[in-house]
Amino acid sequence: MTNEWCGWRDATERALYGADDGFYTRPGGPGPAGHFRTSVHVSPLYAGAVAALLRRVDGALGHPEELALVDVGAGRGELLTGVLAALPDEVAARLRPYAVERAARPGGLDPRIDWLGELPAPGSVTGLLFANEWLDNVPVDVVETDGDGVARRVLVRADGTERLGEPVDGADAEWLRRWWSWQPAPSAASTASVSTAPASTASASGASAPTARTALSPLSPGLRAEIGRPRDEAWARAVRTLRAGLAVAADYAHARQDRPLFGTLTGFRDGREVRPVPDGSCDITAHVALDACAGPSAELLTQREALHALGVDGRRPPLSLASTDPAAYVRALGTAGAAAELTDPAGLGGFGWLVEPVGGECAGLLKA
Ligand SMILES: C[S@@+](CC[C@H](N)C(=O)[O-])C[C@H]1O[C@@H](n2cnc3c(N)ncnc32)[C@H](O)[C@@H]1O
Repeated sequence: MTNEWCGWRDATERALYGADDGFYTRPGGPGPAGHFRTSVHVSPLYAGAVAALLRRVDGALGHPEELALVDVGAGRGELLTGVLAALPDEVAARLRPYAVERAARPGGLDPRIDWLGELPAPGSVTGLLFANEWLDNVPVDVVETDGDGVARRVLVRADGTERLGEPVDGADAEWLRRWWSWQPAPSAASTASVSTAPASTASASGASAPTARTALSPLSPGLRAEIGRPRDEAWARAVRTLRAGLAVAADYAHARQDRPLFGTLTGFRDGREVRPVPDGSCDITAHVALDACAGPSAELLTQREALHALGVDGRRPPLSLASTDPAAYVRALGTAGAAAELTDPAGLGGFGWLVEPVGGECAGLLKA
């Protein structure tokens, strides 16, 4: 890993996906589950919900002879394995499960799963494309406003040191203008305080960060943003692989009216949030502007809304079950606990689900 200055997008690309030493691609690495817990790892309920959605897609498409499930950013194939276990034999027999993943195929994986380093060809599959916590790992550039309020690309070295580069221009400047407003939403202006400062507190410009939304204008120094354009393009490519069906991206997200003032770039290692250092030692991630990724037919839901629509909820079992069938009561309590974690509005339930039908058949499948 060199220690030269470059933008965060290039630095993250090398740090996460370098052939021999990338955080995700390093041979023998533990995979995402070794460093953090996604919804997939929390409970089989999540794979069960994806299986339920897949069955709705199957029904809407008229039970095609071959039904695809494309898992983009598949980690170690945990979601596909869980969905295969949750499906009835008749559907599993028609299923073509694809894992799209930059890391190598793990040993011992179900041989039915096709392991691909790239997305399938455009228009080549019919079914459900699902991407859980993929887009937040698509590398992006970071910008910061300098002392004159000019948005400049942040340059970084492999040791995490930052400095400001050239002003942002062209398509990136256009993306920021369209999708990232540092202005407070009118309703939030009088009350909101900063709650989303990045793990890295050192500003590349050295500017001291303003402390309240009310004190800000777009010209304030030290404001930061991530340019989501590579994610918009990656998502559009993923959706295009479908001939017909439904594409879903589930991720931590923010919306235009509520972008964080200082961006969200951060690192994770061994289950803890750490300063983002692009040397391959930690995950580097930033929240996703899912509204910018969304195509014209897309719908945005919270994970809580989506999972409720798929029959997952955290209601406790009736107390009467404890006396009639204590073992079933304890099992049901465990399930309710996992469902509550997956749907907690302050946690995983607050994640965004970008739901994009391709063709008319799969519109409205997540209506409760
Ligand atoms: C945070 S992990 C999520 C893993 C899994 N989906 C889960 O929810 O547990 C993100 C994964 O996306 C993979 N990834 C990132 N960009 C990719 C790309 N362009 N194509 C395929 N996989 C990618 C990474 O290698 C990593 O395994």
